Amino acid sequence: MITPNPPSPAAVQPLPDRIRHRFPILERLVYINSCSQGALSDSVREAYEAYLHDWDEHGAPWEYWVERTEAARASFARLVNADPDEIAVTTSLSAGVSALATGLRYARRSKIVVTDLEFPTIGQIWHAQAARGARVEHVAPAEDGVVPLERFERAIDEDTALVSITHVSYRTGATTDVEGVVELARQRGALVLLDAYQTVGSMPVDVRGLGVDFLAAGVLKYLLGSAGLAFFYCRRELFERAWPTATGWFADQDIFQMDVHDYSPSPTARRFQSGTPPIPAIYAGIAGIELMQEIGIAETREHVLELNERLIAGVDELGGTVVTPRQRDRHGALICIRSTNVDDLVSALASDGIVTSSRDGNLRVSAHSYNSTDDVDAVLGALARNRDLLA
Ligand SMILES: Cc1ncc(COP(=O)(O)O)c(C=O)c1O
Repeated sequence: MITPNPPSPAAVQPLPDRIRHRFPILERLVYINSCSQGALSDSVREAYEAYLHDWDEHGAPWEYWVERTEAARASFARLVNADPDEIAVTTSLSAGVSALATGLRYARRSKIVVTDLEFPTIGQIWHAQAARGARVEHVAPAEDGVVPLERFERAIDEDTALVSITHVSYRTGATTDVEGVVELARQRGALVLLDAYQTVGSMPVDVRGLGVDFLAAGVLKYLLGSAGLAFFYCRRELFERAWPTATGWFADQDIFQMDVHDYSPSPTARRFQSGTPPIPAIYAGIAGIELMQEIGIAETREHVLELNERLIAGVDELGGTVVTPRQRDRHGALICIRSTNVDDLVSALASDGIVTSSRDGNLRVSAHSYNSTDDVDAVLGALARNRDLLA
């Protein structure tokens, strides 16, 4: 009997070749839209099947589901270099941020500094706190799409309770100078919340290295999970600083005491949780995070930066306008390209089998570990055919 040669170790093959077969959609489409949602992998599909199997097989295996929730907490903690008790398992980024916003008091320090590059949910949550005495001050980006540190310096003062920043803007792809903002905030006694939804999974994120007080993110995009699961990090020293009034029984000190007579929030970051954890999304989220760790997040970052260099050079050649800052340390995975009619451009790309998205009149092209130079060239080819839609 002839035995086939054993496959060469996967790790010797560079990205994306060693992993493309894990994402069936790539056989049919050029999927380059991970800023909206990551592609479905074989392991995330299997995780959903495992959830249905466990439900069918065991009815309500609550102990196992609680264990899976703790596994998700630990997995996200490892990912961002936090301890598990510094992580709340939430159903959306908004849920964690809302728990924080309802838990702060605005009597001594009333100002919240927010950039115009935030996802709308962030502005909406902080503005809702106006009813409880918060004042929201916005800082706008400069011409180059980046908020200069001087603008933060002017806005952050002795009355500032918190500065709310995005790691990479969903609108422009620009990164914020997180360390710079943290230093300014520290000097003035303000806290910093980082929205890392557009970065977790696409580049290494380390809460201790960055020095942020709070971080919120979900698994839907570069972490390859599904809707329904997000996380909220709170630095240990600040557990007791917030007394969330948006809450629920999974935030209680002793969940299974089932005490209906008082509110005693958990002494850990679990106080930012609410009701029943999103068990199906947790199965999928753990699979997604594990797959990204297997693929390698630092390697993904390098790979995507190279693809983005090729994309930017190609758009320049076509005479188009790249809105995203070009320097490697100034952008994430997302590249935004100006269009005269972005809906028509997204549709034109879609009819060529290329999946992208748009915001603010800009085309959003967001590569991941599984995208190839051929994918970028396919986008550039379609842009060349629709040159009249580039601005
Ligand atoms: C930067 C950023 N923050 C927040 C969100 C949304 O968070 P959620 O819907 O989980 O509250 C998104 C995308 O959907 C995002 O891109």
